[in-house]
Amino acid sequence: MKTTIVLLGPPGAGKGTQGEKLTDEFGYVRLSTGDMLREAVRNGTELGKKAKEYMDAGALVPNDLIIGLMKEKIKEVDGGVLLDGFTRTVEQADALGEVMKVDLALNFDVPDEELISRLTQRRSCPDCNAVYHLVTKKPKQDGICDKCGGKLYQRDDDKESTVKNRLEVYHKNTQPLIDYYEKKGVLVTIPSTGAIDEIFEKVKKAIQ
Ligand code: AP5
Repeated sequence: MKTTIVLLGPPGAGKGTQGEKLTDEFGYVRLSTGDMLREAVRNGTELGKKAKEYMDAGALVPNDLIIGLMKEKIKEVDGGVLLDGFTRTVEQADALGEVMKVDLALNFDVPDEELISRLTQRRSCPDCNAVYHLVTKKPKQDGICDKCGGKLYQRDDDKESTVKNRLEVYHKNTQPLIDYYEKKGVLVTIPSTGAIDEIFEKVKKAIQ
């Protein structure tokens, strides 16, 4: 089974959703830069204060803030790891390559029109980071997380105008990583429209 997996794909492609399933079923440790940054913002740390304005605008947080943070977190992991939201620029990918060999880059491919509808209807748990959708993945009780009972909220950057900016940023800065990992021979692209469980079946084949 692959041990170091980069989850690639535009905002809303299902990196968090599929990453959560891989963690539940196979015990991978999921390191999500987005979750870490949102926690830092909530806690008002130095990192959070610096990152907030970029995140609110749908822009990327500067590489120097992210690379150091991720190198530290990666060192602490023993066993299979999912990198969700990292890497996002060629500079980040080069920096990761210095400390770790990537076994698999899973690229979740979804058209932009579907991403906008997925993100504007997403609800997230601030306590355990589980993600839901108002239509395709409803919580059992409205507004309450199935896993931990947390009160679900809408992320500030899931408003339509910010989502459009995030998609532009993705196409400009992160899409080039598809070629980057293809050249390294580790890329698997998964067409990711359709049912969450059907996509997970393809993911399971890819990690073998
Ligand atoms: P981050 O939190 O990483 O956001 P993102 O990459 O934009 O990804 P998302 O979390 O929005 O989407 P996802 O692919 O995980 O989709 P999900 O599974 O939730 O980053 C946020 C910000 O932090 C960035 O904008 C940037 O500012 C900063 N940042 C983070 N990392 C950085 C880095 N490395 N460098 C610089 N800055 C960084 O699914 C979305 C919705 O769709 C959910 O509602 C879900 O239920 C639903 N859904 C999932 N699959 C399906 C399906 N098959 N059918 C229907 N609905 C589905």
